[in-house]
Amino acid sequence: MTDSANVDFSARQTLPEVDPQFTRRWSPRAMQNTRIPDQHLATIFEAARWSPSCFNDQPWRFYTSTEATFDSFLKLLNDANQSWAKNAAVLGFVVSRQHFRHNGKPNAHADFDTGAAWMALALQAHQLGYHAHGMAGVHFDGVYDYLGLERDKFRVICGFALGLRGDPAVLTPEQRAKENPSGRVDLAEVWLSR
Ligand SMILES: Cc1cc2nc3c(=O)[nH]c(=O)nc-3n(C[C@H](O)[C@H](O)[C@H](O)COP(=O)(O)O)c2cc1C
Repeated sequence: MTDSANVDFSARQTLPEVDPQFTRRWSPRAMQNTRIPDQHLATIFEAARWSPSCFNDQPWRFYTSTEATFDSFLKLLNDANQSWAKNAAVLGFVVSRQHFRHNGKPNAHADFDTGAAWMALALQAHQLGYHAHGMAGVHFDGVYDYLGLERDKFRVICGFALGLRGDPAVLTPEQRAKENPSGRVDLAEVWLSR
């Protein structure tokens, strides 16, 4: 399991039967650039591959950096995200293909399905001891251009950082103050039985 020593999970009180994998996964900003073995990376994205999708279309794409491209990926993040994600092992972008394979029509559920796949990879990463931290703060135009993605065929949804947890001392005081697993709104707000 993951390196959760000295992490305060007290904001995550939940019903007793909820599997801890859902509450122990979180998005730290303090990361380590220790290399992630290819086998682990393959396992993380393989988990995403088994996600459900409309017409089993599997519209998700995950683009990840190599050692050679890490700095190019980093430049595609906004300054706030660059400040901590520079310490991650791998950076990536989540992309969804906007048209169905079987008939070429627009797939209104492509982003929903891609989000499900993201959660699968985040949980698998956590099972292996890593953290996956999503990032909306990216230069989207730059990502389309860098990855050579046609804007009418693909949607860049977000970036992400992957890595082992690092020492919070590398963070700014402001980031450090937020470096704990967050709580959630009440169940009654999201589950409405009618
Ligand atoms: C699509 C998406 C975009 C996000 N964008 C950012 C971001 O730009 N910068 C950042 O530091 N965290 C970002 N986050 C992390 C969220 O703030 C975090 O997931 C949320 O507060 C819940 O915390 P948890 O992941 O630790 O459970 C993003 C998460 C997601 C899923």
